[in-house]
Amino acid sequence: MNQSSPQKNNRPSWSGQFAFIIAAAASAIGLGNIWRFPYLAAQYGGGIFLLIYILMTVTLGFTLMTTEVAIGRRTKLSAMKAFSSERKSWGLLGWIVTLVPVVIVPYYCVIGGWITKYILAYVFDQKMEAVVDGATTMVSVSQGDFFTAFITHPWQPVAFGSFFILFSMWLIFSGVKNGIERSNKIMMPILLILSVVICAFSLMQPGSFEGLKYYLLPNFKEFVADGRFDFVRLCKTCVGAMGQMFYSLSLAMGIMITYGSYMRKENSIERSVRRIEILDTLVAVLAGLMIIPVAYALGNGPEVMQKSGPGLMFVALPGVFEKMVVYGINFGRIMGAVMFLLLFFAAVTSSVSLLETVVASIRDSTGLSRRASGIVTLVYTLLLAVPSALGYGKGFLGGEVIPGMTFLDFSDYITNNVMMPIAAFFTCIFVSRVVGTRFVEEEVEHGGYSFKARGFYRVMCRWVAPVLMLVIFVTFVLAGLGKIKI
Ligand code: TRP
Repeated sequence: MNQSSPQKNNRPSWSGQFAFIIAAAASAIGLGNIWRFPYLAAQYGGGIFLLIYILMTVTLGFTLMTTEVAIGRRTKLSAMKAFSSERKSWGLLGWIVTLVPVVIVPYYCVIGGWITKYILAYVFDQKMEAVVDGATTMVSVSQGDFFTAFITHPWQPVAFGSFFILFSMWLIFSGVKNGIERSNKIMMPILLILSVVICAFSLMQPGSFEGLKYYLLPNFKEFVADGRFDFVRLCKTCVGAMGQMFYSLSLAMGIMITYGSYMRKENSIERSVRRIEILDTLVAVLAGLMIIPVAYALGNGPEVMQKSGPGLMFVALPGVFEKMVVYGINFGRIMGAVMFLLLFFAAVTSSVSLLETVVASIRDSTGLSRRASGIVTLVYTLLLAVPSALGYGKGFLGGEVIPGMTFLDFSDYITNNVMMPIAAFFTCIFVSRVVGTRFVEEEVEHGGYSFKARGFYRVMCRWVAPVLMLVIFVTFVLAGLGKIKI
């Protein structure tokens, strides 16, 4: 398949429904599921977040993914042009969704750089200099201080992040990309199997059971403060879950519109969407099982959980690997190396797809050649990765850009919690109030398929989704501005 073809009618297409599902799932499954989902779930109260996340996926997620794939397949255009092709005045929405990957990609690659560092640390048993209890010592990767030592290092995060960017760009422009995507079909199942093994180990650690309960059992007391129902906290959790759901399913950023534009007319949109959702959610839930219970055990309880952030996976996984001693043989190092290598693959396929989207958007909007667009993408990604990479340190570009957030946190926050909900809201409005839900329904029913959830879709797209998103989002913004307190 050739993604760069801009023509309207003779677009190449995925060879079948299975190919579409695999391609879309490969874009969806990435660091969002394995790195981001567990730390958000840990932060927002465990079971209650999981419950809200799943509810969001089957309602909003289903509605939005169906909408995006249908718009893409019907218009045969990428997001930037799909909205304006129907209504000129809606071009701005195309721009907003197109901008999301542009903001995501630099920090996504920085996390890819962290993973690269961990592969090397396991393979070569690298140590880092860290200050532990006031004294400078060398720590190995299995110690929690290793992570802090690495992300606060004055140049290493930049070096690894840049490597990751250059590597991804090289894959795109050297043509090796297809090979990588094919190898993904082998890597992904291995990643899943290994994750199950790691889960078993982490659940065997003393103290993990409490963590398992924290992760799986919803605790509604999370939303009670001083004996009263805390609506703001509920909305904050919903915004967190919603943003994560969009991110993880690659929604509200034009990706699924582009993917839909390559989907064959004779395949079922409804069935494909369900399968992608199930696969993506399974991987996220599994990653949570692998990381949260053991992090809970290592960190002693819920208070630590609620403070967890982007480093959770990088501290919890080495904590499990260290315990992997069977009959006196330590499998931890090899496990660590293999797991981070597989994560590297998952991250690289997503970063390649993100970068390619950005290249295509620059090309479509400026008319530059593919190569020139690639250079522009490379330069700005490298430049914006630097503040993300150095934000956790104390030196140059270190520290918070707004209170409580480094540049990486901020880029993540602004895309997931602000831009994507806005894009999703207006996509629903576009369909329900401008072109009409028939626009999507007809496409889903194309080829004689019955749209089983049609009634549900209509109600969701016209009323429930926009109202829900509006209420949650407005409360969240007002609370953020300190306008309301409960
Ligand atoms: N959904 C991907 C993940 O879970 C991340 C992602 C966001 C992505 N936007 C994308 C991947 C665009 C490919 C293309 O990690």
